[in-house]
This record gives sequence, C-alpha cells and structure tokens, in this order.
Amino acid sequence: MTTTDATSDSATSHTNTPTWPSHDPATRRCLPTTFRPVDHDRVASLVASEWERFAKTTPGSAEHNVRARRTLPLGVTSSFQHWDPHPISVQSAEGAWIADVDGRRLLDLSMGFGAMLVGHLNPVVVEHVTRALEEVGTLFVTPSPQATDMSERFCARFGLDLVRFTNSGTESLMYAIRAARAYTQRKAIVKIEGGYHGGYDPLQVSVKPALADIGPADAPVGDVPFDVEAGTVHVVAYNDLAMLERILAEHGRDVAAMVVEPVIENLAIVLPDEGYLAGVRALCDQHGVVLIFDEVKTGLTAGHAGAAQRLGVQPDLITLAKSIGGGLPLAAFGGKREVMEVVVDGRMAHFGTYNGNPLVMAAALAVDELCTPDALAAAEEINVRALDAIDDVIKQYELPAHTVGMGVKGCVTWSPSPVRNYRDYKATDFATAELSWLWGVNRNILTPPGLDEQWLVSLMHTDADMDLLVHDFTALAKALRD
Ligand SMILES: Cc1ncc(COP(=O)(O)O)c(C=O)c1O
Repeated sequence: MTTTDATSDSATSHTNTPTWPSHDPATRRCLPTTFRPVDHDRVASLVASEWERFAKTTPGSAEHNVRARRTLPLGVTSSFQHWDPHPISVQSAEGAWIADVDGRRLLDLSMGFGAMLVGHLNPVVVEHVTRALEEVGTLFVTPSPQATDMSERFCARFGLDLVRFTNSGTESLMYAIRAARAYTQRKAIVKIEGGYHGGYDPLQVSVKPALADIGPADAPVGDVPFDVEAGTVHVVAYNDLAMLERILAEHGRDVAAMVVEPVIENLAIVLPDEGYLAGVRALCDQHGVVLIFDEVKTGLTAGHAGAAQRLGVQPDLITLAKSIGGGLPLAAFGGKREVMEVVVDGRMAHFGTYNGNPLVMAAALAVDELCTPDALAAAEEINVRALDAIDDVIKQYELPAHTVGMGVKGCVTWSPSPVRNYRDYKATDFATAELSWLWGVNRNILTPPGLDEQWLVSLMHTDADMDLLVHDFTALAKALRD
C-alpha cells in the first residue's frame, strides 16, 4: 500500500493513484483524491497537550481507577476497558449518552463495542425485561416457549437451519469450532492474521501480533502466546485468495474450519475485496472445510439479516453476539443442519446453565422487534450522512485519511490508501489516530479505545448527535493544519 511519509513536507499535495482492487459493492469506502502528510511534530505536541487536558478533566475517573485496581487487575472487568493513565468510569447511560463519575455527559459512539445497537435503556428492552423480571422468571434450565420463539426468529432472520444460544462471543466461537471438528473429524483451523475472535485458544493465534514475530507478508508465521494451547492453526492474510488456496492445497485434508469476520471490525473496518468472500466459500467447498463467519461484531449492525446475507455469501456456521442481546449477555452459533446435527446425535456436546434464559430472551425479543429493516436503514442513513460530511472535511484539509462504513458502523482510517489486511493496518498512522480519539474524548465524544474499533450509530442516535462528531473532526483538522 502507499503510506504517508511522515518526514515529507506537509505543504506538498500528493495525488492518490488507485492501485488496489475494488471493495465489495455492498460496503462503503471513500478515499481522498489528493492528500498532504500531517506534521508529526505537531501531532506529538497536540497529543501531549490533550493528555494534560484529559488528566485535568477526569479526576473522578482517576480516583476511581486507584480504588478499582485494589481488587480488579488494571481496575477493570475486561482488559479491553483499560487505557493509560486511566479509563473513564461511567455512572449511567441512556439513549446515546453516558454520564461519567466526573459529572460529564458524553456522546457514546462506542455503544458497548456495538452491543448497544438499540441504544441504552431502550424503552422496549426495559419493558420486555421488566415483564420477565416481574412475571416470568430469570432461569428455568428447562425448555421454554421464550427460547423456542427466539430460535425461530433467529433462524428466519439469519437464514439458519438450527441455532443454539450461548452467553458470549467467545463461547459461540468455541462451540462453532468444536462443531466443525466433530463434523469433519479434522482438527486444524485457518484464521486471518490479526483477527480477534474472543478468548478460545486456537483463536488467540496472531491476534494483532508484533510484525517482528510473524514472518514475511507472503508467508505469515502464526504467533502463539505462551499461555495458549492452540493446536494446529494456519494463519492467512485477509483478502488474499492465492495464499488461502496454497494453505488449503497443502493442509486442507486436516483443516476442520476457516474462521473469518466477513468484514473485519477489530482492525477499524477492513472490507472484503469484491469477490473475496465468494472465493473463500469456493475454496472451503473444494477442500471440505467448514466456513465459519464470525458475526459477533457485524450481525445486526451490518444490516437486517447480518453481513453474510448483505454480502451474498452463505457460510456453514455463523456466530452472533453483541448487537442481538440489547446489552444483556446473549450469543449464539448456528447454521446448516448437516453441521449442527453433531449436537443432535452427540458427536459434540453443547451445554450451558444460562443458555436461553428467559431474562435474556426477553431482551432478544425486544431487539428483534426494534431492528426492522426500516429502523436499521434509517440509522444507516444517519451514519452515511456523517461519513459524507467527514469526507468533505478530509477533502477540504487534504488529510491523509479516509472513511470506511459498514451498515451503522463507521471509522476514519489514517491512511490515504485502503487497509486490506493486517499488515496494511499496521502501516497506518497510529499517532494521529490516537490524537483523533483523544480529541473526541476531551470534547465529550467517546469512540472505542484501542484505535482499532469503529463508531456505532444506534437506533437512538440522531443527525444532531453525529453533527457533534463532524464538528469535532473539523476542529481537529484545523488544529492539524493551522
Ligand atoms: C469478532 C469478535 N468475535 C468474538 C468476540 C468475543 O466476544 P465476547 O467478548 O462476547 O466473548 C469479539 C469481542 O469483541 C469479537 O469482536
């Protein structure tokens, strides 16, 4: 990919000459036609002053972090929640807004890493869950009409023959892989370099590894953390069908499953090239490999029936979580009958005390009722208007950046050329990305920490909310160029 030369003169305009394949037409990306590098001394000085501002305006969060660290490692309940010197501690949330312990109101564009698609305390979710609490119960560990009703709705919506509920994305991925192993009687896994899929051991291989540890781009070496028992995992670059073909030609007879996010949403947003997913499907078919689409992050945020249907490629299994549960711990895995039959005939055991409990099913029903095609299309339109407005700012200030959108999610990627795989992502401008994120946090707009996520327009965000993001991005552009 073309990268911004940090040392080149920021007064010189460069023309962006496309040399890359086009992205899937059901996705959105807008690249600048001309750009100028940013001045990295200026970025460094702005980052320093923004961190000072952060420290001054968040004393309550700092104090809370000191207390929390006494009992919680890093002072958080999941390491994703942490950032240095301390994350913002949140007191409450409603609609598109959260209130922190310093009394600030922040526009929430992180929305629980996309889990809060219907908004915080959406009245329909509150009503259904309250009814479950007052009239139904919280846990039966028996069959119940509520769980059956939801399974029928999920199968119809996502085009599945059979589905099982779990409590987290990690659990769903674990069982999807086990189902693939039981079905194929093979053990090895193929995963995408850099991809994150939760905590199950084989999927911990090469999750955002250091470049020094992973070999050359055309022959990546899996990076296995010491605490992980991964089994055999082959790592391939996203958007590289030739590499997948090579790996499957050599190892295909031992490979149970290929796990891939149809759109990668853990490296900002990385779109499939046109035809890539269809190519993956064909190669998996050729080698008898179960294709698992991890739709934990895409799911309903990608469209009414998820990313697979929007992009027109049907996997054998999908995993779902986050957006389907309205903020309660709901996840699922499901797909083709012949694969899911392993649960029926005992080739694979699937258990879980809390699976399909009526409290979570009540939230799922509310989400299912709320996430109509029209409601999701309206949120996507708000997202597209914001992305278009940010594109105008990028153009006006000739920023070395571009926007990417998928359904109700969007991001700014600090690179003038597209990110098509993990190595491209590692070549983006992380310093300016950090500034951009912190700039927002200091102006009461919370996008996810980590520089590798994306904002989410929930059903409760408005154009006026997204105008705040555009306004702050414009101010950042001015600060970078003044
Ligand atoms: C793509 C993807 N798969 C799986 C997971 C794991 O989900 P959970 O955190 O619910 O275990 C995540 C979590 O962020 C994810 O982004």
